Amino acid sequence: MTTLTDYLNDYSPNPALSDVITTVTDVGKTISQLLRKGALADILGEAGNQNVQGEDQKKLDVLANDLLLDALAKNTHCAGVASEELDDATPANADGSLLVLFDPLDGSSNIDINMAVGTIFSVLPYQRQGQISENADFLQAGNQQLAAGYLLYGTSTVLALTIADHVVMFSLDPDTNDYVLIQENVQIDINTSEYAINASNYRYWRAPMQQYIDELIAGETGVRGRDFNTRWVAAMVGDVHRILCRGGLFTYPFDTKYANKAGKLRLMYEANPMSLLIERAGGAATDAVNRILDIEPTDIHQRVPVVLGSKNEVDYVKNLHVTYADK
Ligand code: AHG
Ligand code: MN
Ligand code: MN
Repeated sequence: MTTLTDYLNDYSPNPALSDVITTVTDVGKTISQLLRKGALADILGEAGNQNVQGEDQKKLDVLANDLLLDALAKNTHCAGVASEELDDATPANADGSLLVLFDPLDGSSNIDINMAVGTIFSVLPYQRQGQISENADFLQAGNQQLAAGYLLYGTSTVLALTIADHVVMFSLDPDTNDYVLIQENVQIDINTSEYAINASNYRYWRAPMQQYIDELIAGETGVRGRDFNTRWVAAMVGDVHRILCRGGLFTYPFDTKYANKAGKLRLMYEANPMSLLIERAGGAATDAVNRILDIEPTDIHQRVPVVLGSKNEVDYVKNLHVTYADK
């Protein structure tokens, strides 16, 4: 049996990285326990305010955010924290060498219906050790990430992590409260017949995405010549987990539904960490044209269209978009 602690001792490039990952995953144990108590822990329902993105916050969005923030602020290696739920990044310990970014609670609309939710995190290097960190320090492309991962609070709590050149999965043992390694070197099939998209937004998509979904729905009667199946968890963490387990394509594409937003998902807290996991597992991740991990961020809260998963299918979507652009 290999625990997360054993794994970090063997594979983490440095003790600082191990330490912040341990802090984040320890908070994950607390969130997991709160979720298991559900309504009995008075964690369900609205918090009564909106976050910087203009979204209504749930009690658990705020609670998970505060637990992570408090724990990371005490970690001497953490120079600053950026969260989907906070307007600005929070400076932590100026002598730290790492910046931590997170979506404390992914899939908020699932909380009150007892469905899967998660926590997504990303670790970046801090370049100005000794000085107080600020928002601009976080504006690094996803290819600079030192580690990324998520916790999925599903029927069991699972941690997916990448700190080296591969992706590993752990399951939280409820008896010992340890993360136990369940899969080394996760790999995604390059082909798939399963896709995830919120199709209610069809009329807001660009033409190539509409064409793509039309082709999948036509199945064996259309140009693809085979049938496709659809799944939508409404928590990216759940959809990405399914893809790491059995392949697939996930997209939250560009749409015109949200004024002045390129899509719904956030580059720094969702797209970048998930793209690193997916690429390291042999998949691909693009905004439909460009590699997500190469996007130079201009704002810590910026949004980005996301197409990720099995490589051949992601490339197919990308080719449709490139061909359209060339016309
Ligand atoms: P969050 O709960 O952190 O705001 O993220 C929810 C995101 C993502 O996890 C999911 O794929 C998507 O929003 C679901 O969106 P719809 O409600 O439009 O289906
Ligand atoms: Mn989210
Ligand atoms: Mn969230």
